[in-house]
Amino acid sequence: MRLKDKVAVVTGSARGLGKAMAMKMAAEGAKVVVCDLHYEGCVAVKDEIEAAGGTALALKCNVSRRDDVAGLINETVEKFGVIDIWVNNAGITRDAQITKMTDEDWDAVLDNNLKSMFICIQEVIKVMIPRNYGRIINITSIAAQEGNFGQSNYSAAKAGIIGLTKTLCKELGRKGITVNAVAPGFMLTEMTETIPPKIKDQLLARIPLKRAGQPEEVAAAVVFLASDEASYINGHTLNVNGGLYV
Ligand SMILES: NC(=O)c1ccc[n+]([C@@H]2O[C@H](COP(=O)([O-])OP(=O)(O)OC[C@H]3O[C@@H](n4cnc5c(N)ncnc54)[C@H](O)[C@@H]3O)[C@@H](O)[C@H]2O)c1
Repeated sequence: MRLKDKVAVVTGSARGLGKAMAMKMAAEGAKVVVCDLHYEGCVAVKDEIEAAGGTALALKCNVSRRDDVAGLINETVEKFGVIDIWVNNAGITRDAQITKMTDEDWDAVLDNNLKSMFICIQEVIKVMIPRNYGRIINITSIAAQEGNFGQSNYSAAKAGIIGLTKTLCKELGRKGITVNAVAPGFMLTEMTETIPPKIKDQLLARIPLKRAGQPEEVAAAVVFLASDEASYINGHTLNVNGGLYV
């Protein structure tokens, strides 16, 4: 078990990639906090983890609100004592071409994907720095690396995450905290269900492995970066995209 007795928080883990990360971390021995806007989804994931013999806590949290995040951290420390691993996974899309992009679309995507990470990291390092230990993993996207039609807000937010990751690797390394990013390509989750079939076919044709990715394939990369095997990896963005962007 690669994460035995570690305490891990995965944001946005009621479904999709976050759920797969929470399940895999629990299977590797971590005590996992499942948190999301949707509490019922968190409870369902917690129940699945416990049914498989793992340990979990379900909490409702809006990661773009500092008081919610501070509350989540307090409850986690009360229950499990420490936080070793924090995965910033929660994210949203509000797609529109730039001519039709509203201020609300822009702000919602920047707040929920990027500012939320600033808030979460600033809050969680308060409990990581005194222990001189932490693993922070930020979920970015291939959209940060090659752009994506109709996603100026999302690709800007996700590119910001890569810059944030590189800077915080430099600031927090001396505190025993590593900060890395994972950049998924086209993964099969509810977020990508709405992509029109024609666009999906064009995407699949460009992927060297000729298939979309499964959530568990992103979860495996996150578990690796959270484990002791990745102790000297810091500031890296790990692509999990089947070769779609190299
Ligand atoms: N699916 C893909 O192909 C893909 C590709 C690249 C990157 N990503 C990124 O991976 C992450 C997960 O994607 P997914 O496909 O599982 O998405 P998803 O929409 O299926 O799940 C995202 C979860 O985050 C939660 N969430 C959103 N905003 C939140 C907030 N403010 N506070 C708390 N929870 C919040 C949602 O309720 C949802 O449960 C996202 O950051 C996404 O941008 C996904």
